[in-house]
Amino acid sequence: MDRYAVFGNPINHSKSPMIHSLFAQQTAQQLSYQAIEAPIDGFAQAMADFFSQGGKGCNITVPFKEEAFSVAQQLTPRAKLAGAVNTLLLADDGHVIGDNTDGFGLVHDLQQYMQLANKRILLLGAGGAARGVIGPLLAQGIQELVIANRTYSKAQMLATLFDDKGNVNACLFAELAGDFDLIINSTSASLSGLVPPISPTLINRHTICYDMMYKANETAFNLWAMEHGAELVIDGLGMLVGQAAESFKVWRGITPDMLPVLTALRKTLK
Ligand code: ATR
Repeated sequence: MDRYAVFGNPINHSKSPMIHSLFAQQTAQQLSYQAIEAPIDGFAQAMADFFSQGGKGCNITVPFKEEAFSVAQQLTPRAKLAGAVNTLLLADDGHVIGDNTDGFGLVHDLQQYMQLANKRILLLGAGGAARGVIGPLLAQGIQELVIANRTYSKAQMLATLFDDKGNVNACLFAELAGDFDLIINSTSASLSGLVPPISPTLINRHTICYDMMYKANETAFNLWAMEHGAELVIDGLGMLVGQAAESFKVWRGITPDMLPVLTALRKTLK
């Protein structure tokens, strides 16, 4: 049976084994998928062991996505742009290819709710999670992407990096102004129940807010956005299922149906 896995540390709460086993059932693919906790200083070795013992592909999560980028022998264009790898694939010639499906997951999920073309989008945060989604967002022909971050230099660095891919600008939280169709929170503030310090006047009844994080109830950012009258708030569970579906397609050549898996996963969170 073909073997797949997700590597992270910690990994015990990962939803990926459940998602991929539902995908496998649905598409009648024979495969196994397990969660593996690699030691913080032992990721490269764990990876080498996995592929030498017959592993066909794997997902990579926190904190190893940047290291996976270095370990991969070849990179897809979207992984190069993201500067991080969340999917590894053993190619027929024995090379390990690094890919990144996070941006696909976000864009696919957003498309269930809105058209992205010509929209003005605000991205909060300028870390690895932000970088992974900028290329795929710009590829949708949006009007402008403003990247706002607590540390301005990081937002500016990303804006410069993607300058030739679209209209991207950097901003400090305090200087944000104007109307945005969509505000995406990629900061890790939600992990501590905090909200990035942006003005509530950025939210109006046409604003859609998306938090890349998810939990059983609303995230701190989405609660705040609802309180200030956002049209719609969405959490990152659909992005999680979307990136998994695209990884599954990379490995197996079949795109699974995401909606029933998202529905099943949502139930387990409650
Ligand atoms: P990730 O890979 O999840 O993006 P990261 O690279 O550590 O993690 O980036 C975390 C992001 O969340 C950064 O943009 C960080 O801002 P700084 O670059 O200024 O550090 C942002 N962040 C973390 N805690 C935050 C908070 N309480 N308020 C606002 N932004 C926060």
